[in-house]
Formats: sequence, C-alpha cells, structure tokens
Amino acid sequence: MNILVIGSGGREHTLAWKLAQSPLATKLYAVPGNPGMAEVATCIPGVDICDNAALVKLAQDKAIDLVVVGPEVPLTNGVVDAMNAAGIKAFGPTRLAAELEGSKSFSKNLMKKYGIPTAKYEVFTNADEARAYVEKEGAPIVIKADGLAAGKGVIVAMTKEEALEAVHEIMDDAAFGKAGSRVVIEEFMDGEEASLLAFTDGRTIVPMVSSQDHKRAYDGDKGPNTGGMGTYAPAPVMTKELVAEATEKILKPVIAAMAKEGRPYKGCLYAGLMITDEGPKVVEFNARFGDPETQVVLPLLESDLVEIMLACVDGTLSDLDIKWSDGAAVCVVMASGGYPKSYQKGFAIDGLEKAKAADTLVFHAGTAEKDGAVVTNGGRVLGVVAKAPTVKEAVDKAYKGVAAITFQDAFYRKDIAHRALERLQGK
Ligand code: AMP
Ligand code: GLY
Repeated sequence: MNILVIGSGGREHTLAWKLAQSPLATKLYAVPGNPGMAEVATCIPGVDICDNAALVKLAQDKAIDLVVVGPEVPLTNGVVDAMNAAGIKAFGPTRLAAELEGSKSFSKNLMKKYGIPTAKYEVFTNADEARAYVEKEGAPIVIKADGLAAGKGVIVAMTKEEALEAVHEIMDDAAFGKAGSRVVIEEFMDGEEASLLAFTDGRTIVPMVSSQDHKRAYDGDKGPNTGGMGTYAPAPVMTKELVAEATEKILKPVIAAMAKEGRPYKGCLYAGLMITDEGPKVVEFNARFGDPETQVVLPLLESDLVEIMLACVDGTLSDLDIKWSDGAAVCVVMASGGYPKSYQKGFAIDGLEKAKAADTLVFHAGTAEKDGAVVTNGGRVLGVVAKAPTVKEAVDKAYKGVAAITFQDAFYRKDIAHRALERLQGK
C-alpha cells in the first residue's frame, strides 16, 4: 500500500515511524514532512495542507491507498470528505465529525444532550451577558473561545477580574479572531488531568494506553502554557477501573451520539479528561492524535497500525485484538530558548546519532535541513522518547538521550513524569 501522512510535527513523525513498520506499507510519503520523517518517508514540500484539491491531486498522482491526517486544521477543513469523494481511503473524521474539536459549543451541547460527564457551562455570543454570568458564578472559572485557537483560546481564571479581562480580550478585542465571537464559560474542575486516545470506526471504540502531558513551560508546572513539553504513558492516575469507567461513560456514548446526530466519527478520538472526586469528566475532545501524546502511546503499540487504521476506515475494528506492551514510555521535548514566546531558528543540532545509539527514539517536531545538516526550525524542536519496563527507567533513559543532544539555547523540563513517579512511590 502507498500511504500519505499529512503534517510535519513530532506527532506526524511518530505516525510515519510506526506506519513504516507495517508489512502492509510499500511506500510512505509525507506532506510536507520533516527531516526526521525523511528517514522513513519521501517528503513532499510545497503543497498547502489546507488545500483539499491539491492534496487529492497529490494522492492521485502518487497512487495513494491510505491518507493519514495528523493536525486538526485539515480535518475541520474537510480533507477526509475530499479524499472519500475521490475514492481514496483516509483515516480521520469528516468535517462534520471533526466539529467535536472544531467547535467547543457543539461539543459541550452534545455532551449535555447525551449525559456525558463534563463541566457545567453556558455559551455566549454577547459580551455583556458573558460578564453578567461571570459576576453571578464568581471564580475560579474557565473562559474558552469557541473555535480553533491553536491551543491558546482557554483561560483558566482564578479571580473574577481575570475572567472579566478574558471575556474582554476574546469578545470585545477579538484576540482569537472569529474563533472568539462565541465563548463557552464553564465551571472549574479540580483534579489530575489525563489523555485517553482511542481508535474508532464509528461503532466500536477501543482506548489506547492512557498518557499525561506537561503543558507548562517550566519545571514544577510553572510558566506559560505550551503545546506540550513532555509526556508519559501509561498515566498511573488512569487505573484499569478508571479506563473502564471512561470507556463506558464517555467514549462509547460519544461515538453513539455522533452516529445518532448523523455525524459518524471515525479515526482517533482524543479525550482530555479531568479525574475529579466524582469520576472522570471531559475537559475537551480533539479530533486527532495528541502531540506529544502520540510520541509515547505509539511506541507501546505492538499491533500493526496500518491494519488498525484500515479497520477504522472500513468499519471492522471489532474484528481486531489490539495489543500493547506492558512497559512505559517517556517523551522529553527539547525546545528553542524563548519558546513559547519568540525564539531564534537555524541553530545546528548535534548528537542525534548519539541519542539514538543510547536506545532512544528521536522524533523531529521543528527541524529543517540546511546544507546537509539538521537545524532548529520551530519552538518545539525534538521529542526524545525512551521505552522501558518502568516509568522510572524510561525517564532515566530519555534524559540520557537528551544529554547527548546539543543546540544553541536548547531548553527542556527536567521533571517529566514527576507526578507518575510520586504516585508510584505512594506519595
Ligand atoms: P483545553 O484547550 O480545553 O484542553 O483547555 C486547556 C487546558 O485548560 C486544559 O488542559 C486544562 O488544564 C485547563 N482547563 C480547561 N477546562 C478546564 C476546566 N473546566 N477546569 C479546569 N481546568 C480546565
Ligand atoms: N497535547 C495536547 C494536544 O495535542 O492537544
């Protein structure tokens, strides 16, 4: 089979790496891809991943049998619909199904209608009404721009003043453009967060191993929010019982609800969960694999990813018995100094081979090739991943890989998986 991966980040590198291991994969392409992906795929630069017609033409030219979509924007842009219309199989939800991520108000209204546990909320298109609601509810409270805002449209306000300022920025000043013309204001949920990704063919849904992301930039979960500074899987907070509860109360009902609403959901469903005293509740749904969750989840997958994705597309997922390894995986993100604010690009990266020799996987997130050398080209540059029988061993191994790699102004968190280690030590 010829397979095309859409995207260029660490998530897409991990997808390509895993797809390449399948005996079903003959030739792998990536659009646009990155220098790490080039080790397993032919990268095709110069095609806009938001141009469905150009992507369909590319898939036809390369006789692609399966398209795998990484990021959310092509999904909400209907790339899966476009491929299907051209008779090409594509893994991922259609435009209407991707609304589960693309519109927070759609997703919250669906959860309310079908009794899926989530924070209490109201939706507003009028700033004065939003302010009145904040005054009535008080803080802490959470303000969310309705549409896609590259992960930045959520403000967890610990005071009423912060909440009112967020309403002002999003609604009056349109800080996130049209994405903020509608806001969701919701109850603050207290608890530990975990990510539960799942494969689904629209009828059957099979959870992957759980994982946990570190969203803040600095050690001790301090500093600004980022796209994710590291991950580990499985997340000890997600006990077998909690995974079963989340599957029964959240995953299965949302898939049934989407089918009932005439928006059958196929692909990877990402449930961001808060483990509260009342059980798991949904923080958000994403219509795609998580980044950097994928970097720790897929290395633990023992089954063939191409076979699973085809089963999701074809509606035969219930026939498969998906196998996971028992160990743990840890990903430490190496970022450019200054990230998530401004940073410089173009610094040479040394030690990539040394890190691989230390038995770590190095997934490229923001790199480029310049004169035959790999250089930094983004905020998050690399994800260094290690697999081991325990989280502790995986942490130690991942940091050995990180120590082997150098580039100017590199920074990374030194405490990835600290919560897992504390929990496992019974603290
Ligand atoms: P989201 O983009 O919806 O995932 O929100 C970003 C982050 O904000 C989440 O990962 C949580 O840490 C936090 N968050 C979102 N909604 C809530 C909530 N209702 N209560 C507490 N924290 C939240
Ligand atoms: N790691 C968070 C996300 O992929 O949305």
